[in-house]
Amino acid sequence: MQVSRGLEDVIIKTTSLTFIDGEKGILRYRGYDIQDLVKASYEELIYLMLYGELPNKEELEKVKGIINESYEVPESVINVLFSLGRSCDPLGMMETAFGAMASIYDPKWDRNTDKETALKIIAKASTITCNIMRSKEGLKPRTPEPSESYAKSFLRSTFDREPRADEIRAMNASLILYTDHEVPASTTAGLVTASTLSDMYSCIVSALSALKGPLHGGAAEGAFKQFQEIGSPDKVEEWFSETMKEKKRIMGFGHRVYKTYDPRARIFKELADSLSSKNPKAREYYVIASKLEEVGLRELHERKLYPNTDFYSGIVFYSIGFPVYMFTPLFALARMLGWTSHFIEYVEEQHRLIRPRAAYVGPDRRAFKPIEERSKKV
Ligand code: CMC
Repeated sequence: MQVSRGLEDVIIKTTSLTFIDGEKGILRYRGYDIQDLVKASYEELIYLMLYGELPNKEELEKVKGIINESYEVPESVINVLFSLGRSCDPLGMMETAFGAMASIYDPKWDRNTDKETALKIIAKASTITCNIMRSKEGLKPRTPEPSESYAKSFLRSTFDREPRADEIRAMNASLILYTDHEVPASTTAGLVTASTLSDMYSCIVSALSALKGPLHGGAAEGAFKQFQEIGSPDKVEEWFSETMKEKKRIMGFGHRVYKTYDPRARIFKELADSLSSKNPKAREYYVIASKLEEVGLRELHERKLYPNTDFYSGIVFYSIGFPVYMFTPLFALARMLGWTSHFIEYVEEQHRLIRPRAAYVGPDRRAFKPIEERSKKV
């Protein structure tokens, strides 16, 4: 009997979406290096992931058109978000909103339109993420208005201001960097639901529920909170030694797949460096993070522990103005594209109900006794 704990090394599907070489630090979406794709617009990436090729201008306009028409979320869903209370967990709010939408939209998996469903989900996720923050900040609901880009519409509606060009570029790049990472726990949870031919909104609820756990979605927040805890660059060495002595982990360091520098972390670092130069508080955290990276690399590189994507991403989000509690919802917003692309790839090309087995190790058959005949335990 071989039990594959954590489904480690189990191949659940084939994919043409994402390629990772953890030894060489390579990440590609549909054959394109992440370093090249990060220069594209998020809408181009949406087309690439869902339709397999980079779009021409006409195809891009079509995708933008569907997204621009789909930002609206039913009022009842927005009302639910605003009735939950400002102290609610933001990812739980996201699950609630998608759960509500699963009950409103056609629950059938429609093979002819599911790429369009994915586009609608990506648009509505922007409205939901924006309103999670607006609800928690005590602001009024707002729906993103169409603009030149998805990233710009999202920032403008979330913050009620015109975002700067470098903020839009950083938001666009963050969406691309967090788009997909093969089949981590959240994607796998969503795939299990997709395999039952449940609707795509419910698949997102499953993925979000898995993302919510601290072993998956919370590392960017964890990394940023440790920079806050350290407080100043001269305390890094001492903090690091204490953390190692207590056998705690450096958040934003290490990866199950990458045994070298995570290519996403390099790009996030550049973005964090440039954006934080305009935000003094964020700059303080960037300087602490750089120092922690230096010490971490010195002490941990022999164990193949390097910064991962979550090490610097929080500084990018914080520089733009996002509160720390928004880091995981922002990850989820970007991952909508990866999740839906995997669901479609699985259901359209490789569908089979996911139904593993468990090896029984309990007692052999026992005679049932009525309760009167069971001896007292105390
Ligand atoms: N700081 C200190 N030591 C570490 C760290 C770390 N961040 N990560 C792993 N180690 C040590 C660990 O203690 C263990 O040491 P030993 O062999 O002496 O017991 C060894 O490295 C192997 O650890 P592991 O837990 O078996 O390795 P894993 O492949 O299961 O861990 C990980 C991957 C991401 C869970 C882990 O590196 C970790 O907990 N990192 C911190 C949390 C984090 O940054 N998570 C975000 C991951 S990237 C998300 C994404 O790709 O979307």
